[in-house]
Amino acid sequence: MTVTWTSGYDINEAVPLVQWGLKGDAQKKSSAGTLTFNRNSMCGSPARDFGWRDPGFIHTSFLKDLWPNAIYTYRMGHLLANGTYIWSKSYSFKSSPYPGQNSLQRIIIFGDMGKAERDGSNEYNNYQPGSLNTTDQLIKDLNNIDIVFHIGDISYANGYISQWDQFTAQVEPIASKVPYMVGSGNHERDWPGTGSFYENMDSGGECGVLAETMFYVPAENRAKFW
Ligand SMILES: [Fe+2]
Repeated sequence: MTVTWTSGYDINEAVPLVQWGLKGDAQKKSSAGTLTFNRNSMCGSPARDFGWRDPGFIHTSFLKDLWPNAIYTYRMGHLLANGTYIWSKSYSFKSSPYPGQNSLQRIIIFGDMGKAERDGSNEYNNYQPGSLNTTDQLIKDLNNIDIVFHIGDISYANGYISQWDQFTAQVEPIASKVPYMVGSGNHERDWPGTGSFYENMDSGGECGVLAETMFYVPAENRAKFW
């Protein structure tokens, strides 16, 4: 299971980690990676100019060798230079079945969601108010969902970087409880001359950098999530 979160701590300021284990059992610690990117990683406007906002640091940890069908608890932490830990609140998930075992898996597959403002307000380049309905319905049904596939056009930030944090905050109640698998859409990836399948400008200059950092996979080609 992959756990991802953001913070203001670069790797030389604090060590990121996840403390986790079977519910009610001993909780061990696993290290996490720390990634970021800067303006020059963006391929064009608005991501590189008026859409830019410093993303802070994105941490990813891989929880390995899980027992099948088991409830796990976990929390994210940082070990500060003075030896003290700071911790997030505690979350839980159920691990996957053993491969091939007889089981019922309830799967949600959708794309093109985006994000919206909780207080009903509007802001520049904000055009997915219905995403709140989708998110809230998924949260309501979460006990009947085993895994979610968001197959592309994830945040629709389109180069307005701060919208990624709004999106991840919006889906956190889902993504912290069940696996939230993502694919790369035109609004994450496309930018002329950067290797995207389509030669259009739909990513707003992000050219996949946001998506592949917020949803990090240890692949040779990080733009290929699976
Ligand atoms: Fe779309």
